[in-house]
Amino acid sequence: MRLMPSSPRPILSAFLALTLVAFLPQLSSGATPFPQDLEPISIVGRESSYLYPSFQGLMSDNDTVRLGLDFQRMLRINHMLYIAARDHVFAINLATSSEQIIPQQKLTWKTKDVEKCTVRGKNSDECYNYIKVLVPRNDETLFACGTNAFNPTCRNYKMSTLEQEGEEVVGQARCPFESRQSNVGLFAGGDFYSATMTDFLASDAVIYRSLGESSPVLRTVKYDSKWLREPHFLHAIEYGNYVYFFFSEIAVEYTTLGKVVFSRVARVCKNDNGGSPRVLERYWTSFLKARLNCSVPGDSFFYFDVLQSLTNVLQINHRPAVLGVFTTQANSITGSAVCAFYMDDIEKAFSGKFKEQRNSESAWTPVPEEQVPKPRPGCCAGEGSAAAYKSSTTFPDDTLTFIKSYPLMDESVPSVNDKPYFTRTTSRFKLTQIAVDTSAGPYKNYTVVFLGSDNGHVLKILASTEGANASFSTQLLEDIDVYNPNKCNVRGEDRRVLGLELDRDHHALFVAFSSCVIRVPLSRCSEACISCLAAKFILCGCSRTSTLKVVVFRLLSINSFKILKCIDFLYFLSLLIK
Ligand SMILES: *[C@@H]1O[C@H](CO)[C@@H](O)[C@H](O)[C@H]1NC(C)=O
Ligand SMILES: *[C@@H]1O[C@H](CO)[C@@H](O)[C@H](O)[C@H]1NC(C)=O
Ligand SMILES: *[C@@H]1O[C@H](CO)[C@@H](O)[C@H](O)[C@H]1NC(C)=O
Ligand SMILES: *[C@@H]1O[C@H](CO)[C@@H](O)[C@H](O)[C@H]1NC(C)=O
Repeated sequence: MRLMPSSPRPILSAFLALTLVAFLPQLSSGATPFPQDLEPISIVGRESSYLYPSFQGLMSDNDTVRLGLDFQRMLRINHMLYIAARDHVFAINLATSSEQIIPQQKLTWKTKDVEKCTVRGKNSDECYNYIKVLVPRNDETLFACGTNAFNPTCRNYKMSTLEQEGEEVVGQARCPFESRQSNVGLFAGGDFYSATMTDFLASDAVIYRSLGESSPVLRTVKYDSKWLREPHFLHAIEYGNYVYFFFSEIAVEYTTLGKVVFSRVARVCKNDNGGSPRVLERYWTSFLKARLNCSVPGDSFFYFDVLQSLTNVLQINHRPAVLGVFTTQANSITGSAVCAFYMDDIEKAFSGKFKEQRNSESAWTPVPEEQVPKPRPGCCAGEGSAAAYKSSTTFPDDTLTFIKSYPLMDESVPSVNDKPYFTRTTSRFKLTQIAVDTSAGPYKNYTVVFLGSDNGHVLKILASTEGANASFSTQLLEDIDVYNPNKCNVRGEDRRVLGLELDRDHHALFVAFSSCVIRVPLSRCSEACISCLAAKFILCGCSRTSTLKVVVFRLLSINSFKILKCIDFLYFLSLLIK
């Protein structure tokens, strides 16, 4: 069931009412109304967005002309933006890209196995090298892996010149076999942590560690749905003594309504050495996972369970946190929400109760505390209740056997303020990507959230990060129609935003689609002026003339509240101050 953009609320309410009865026995009795969709203060239409610089790949490459760029991922390191696509990686100098996006360097890495690949009878579009991994290995080296026509392979490249260094290594368990399969990867302490499918048929999903000099290769238990069940990997973060993985998967603990997707955060210890020769040898001993709870409480209690994109760790109310964009189940009404999670709430879930199913018929319940062995399963060696153990290989069998069967935590991770920062439930388009600027505005104390959607728009939201009531002052500043069919329609329309990368220094946001990357300036001078004036806000526009500066500053001292409502004020002011 899908709603039209202007659908009336009653349909949604009826659906929510049904959901309440069917899904959720633990109803809250509060009378909180369901949040209404915010109206954008300003709309930026195609007339202006068509002028933004775009990049479509190498037009001298026949495959690119025929198939398009096939964007895979972006990575920003200092003043360079790296774009990984099919058969190519491009390095773009951010300082020189405001008028035109021209790669300063590029590398071409095509597969040599095209014939073998076509013989295998699969879709011939896959007989290319989709670059699915592009991460810094150290300050000078990039690590890249490609699907290489169903023969995943990895290489090292010099960051400054994109020249290959050393030998190729096998990409299996580090990079998927097909472009559509999901994967994440990062280096932490010299080890490469990856999460992906390890086989041609995508039946074996894995969270894997390899390439370290001193630590053993480890993985999740094979074909065990309690560990991973049809996961879709979205993000990995190194934080403290752990590496965290964020993904969605089919919920094992919730089967009454068929296959339901839940979002998870999982954690492994960086010092995990695997289990003993009897239990979990060469498998993680520290793998724990918990559900992420992005829901609207109150009368119309409602879950956004499908994680689409997540930020790195940032500060919310001076506490480390991550922000994610979530959507509803694929077969339900379309809705999207932005939720934040404190890192210490994630930790709390991991130190809480474990979840178990006593027999295959019964519901999942918390494991009674007295049945949890010591040291506590999932702990890192040398810490907490495992402080006396030098290595996970010496953990007692009880602890290892327990964690093998019960990696799922009972409690879910609550979102900041127990509610989303932002929701959108009357649009039939989903939000797919998120990027956050936590130091926006002249005093660098505003948080601006950018959200990409599957219809080619970018929403810009102002969220206060100060005070306990962080969601209170959320405003939808702008709705920008970024997708450009003249440049991005290589093989039919694909308007889904696949990546967002912020370049604060040059006031730009790079928005990636399958066939193009578009650079959106963060200040839209003349248009902002017109729409602001039309909306009767006091401060508008963007002129460098000194008269306007004077006016601006005078108004600023009179009524800063109204001025704040002007969309581009934050960036505009920082331009003037320069
Ligand atoms: C690209 O296509 C043109 C026109 O079909 C052809 O002449 C040229 O040889 C092709 N280039 C390569 C590298 O295949
Ligand atoms: C999710 O959070 C809401 C709001 O705090 C809470 O009422 C609900 O019980 C939580 N759901 C789960 C599954 O933990
Ligand atoms: C940001 O800082 C300025 C100057 O210190 C202050 O006036 C303003 O209220 C602050 N805004 C927020 C949201 O903290
Ligand atoms: C938080 O916001 C709600 C409205 O959303 C308001 O009723 C409440 O008083 C606020 N709490 C604080 C501590 O500001």
